[in-house]
Amino acid sequence: MDAVLLAAGKGTRMRSGLVKVLHPILGLPVLGHTLKTLADLGVKRPRVVVGNQADQVRSFLKQASKLFGQSSIPVLQAQQKGTGHAVRMTVPSLRKSRGDVLIWPGDMPLLKTETLKRFMAEHRQTGSSVSVLSCVVPDPHGYGRILRAGGRFIGIREELDASEAERRIQEVNTGVYLFKAPALFRALRKLKPANRKAEYYLTDTIEILAAEGMDVQAFPLAAPQEGQGINSREDLAKAIQVMKNREIQRHMAQGVTFEAPEQTFVAAGVKIGQDTVIYPWCYIEGNVKIGRGCQIGPFAKIRSGSVLGDGAVVGSFVEVNRSKLGKAVLVKHLAYLGDAVIGDGANIGAGSITANYDGVHKHATRIGKKAFIGSNTVLIAPVQIGDHAKTGAGAVVTAGSHVRRGETAVGVPAKTVKRKK
Ligand code: UD1
Ligand code: CA
Repeated sequence: MDAVLLAAGKGTRMRSGLVKVLHPILGLPVLGHTLKTLADLGVKRPRVVVGNQADQVRSFLKQASKLFGQSSIPVLQAQQKGTGHAVRMTVPSLRKSRGDVLIWPGDMPLLKTETLKRFMAEHRQTGSSVSVLSCVVPDPHGYGRILRAGGRFIGIREELDASEAERRIQEVNTGVYLFKAPALFRALRKLKPANRKAEYYLTDTIEILAAEGMDVQAFPLAAPQEGQGINSREDLAKAIQVMKNREIQRHMAQGVTFEAPEQTFVAAGVKIGQDTVIYPWCYIEGNVKIGRGCQIGPFAKIRSGSVLGDGAVVGSFVEVNRSKLGKAVLVKHLAYLGDAVIGDGANIGAGSITANYDGVHKHATRIGKKAFIGSNTVLIAPVQIGDHAKTGAGAVVTAGSHVRRGETAVGVPAKTVKRKK
């Protein structure tokens, strides 16, 4: 199967300097969620129609291709003359297609892989030349309406061109279609911008194919929520909520406790081990791995690139950033760990901070196994604390220091003291 994503539009109603499809949902741009679903469906070379901020969208496509093992092909639509015009741009690249072509607006990230599979099965069973994924909604305002005659699907009417009676129709077009490739190419050639907006409407292909005597079908979504497009910041917030809940449900199904799922943010693709408990008000970014039996929060922020070993405790008002915590590391209160590697069983006292940024570069902190970092220690990176070493409360360990195995460093600047026997 081939697929075309439409992502050339600006997204005016977002009122943003950033093109709509690049707004993040759980750390991944809107378009990324769609690309990921296509990758799950086995689509290797999605054609992506780009236009507004084409360079930014192209550079995201490169990143996403690596992420999802895909090679998406950007196709430029220099001027946005409508959805039909956008798909036309991809024809040279799709020329050799003989199978089905899936068309999907890049601003509809909530559609699930299973739903698309079901849609594909329905399309193939009926053998129709085009199938439209429709959606029954309480408020159809702004969408194209599905026209039926005696139950049979006959076309789509855009709101601007619709009569009073047509506007009352609650079955709407999601903008997702499956076409037999030859039928698509034929219908695209016949499109005319004969509507109030003077655009080439992809939706007109339905009436064109029906007039040719071809079979056309519309299949309503079982879960209308999946058909929610993103047109405004309000839609974006709703989509974030839906995606976040799906992620948290996935973790719960795998044995993770969330005390307050509504008050917790977990990015897409995070790994969390069994029997870990996430207390309320935590914020966990993407590319984070948390082991088994950990305790996180309340009020913890785990940022990208962090790995927490089994049994680690990251407590209240702790931020962990690009850091690797060994097994059973305890960081229970008020700490910042950035670019740190911390050995098994180390204890990081309240108020301890890695000063990892000197204004120009980020530097690493290494803390050994079973080390004990006293309350309010400042570790000015690069710095190294050996296994079983300690720092006193309020110590400021200066850049380049190495507190050796078993030693204790105290004071400002911290100096090693003789250990009492
Ligand atoms: C479109 C459908 C409408 C459907 C709705 C679902 C048409 C004519 N109408 O309307 O029936 O209910 O989607 O959301 O197709 N795009 C381009 N190039 C263009 C125009 C649009 O790439 O020249 C892309 C946009 O970036 C967007 C998608 O196509 O991802 C849909 O465009 P949009 O302008 O939002 O269409 P709607 O008016 O919402
Ligand atoms: Ca839209």
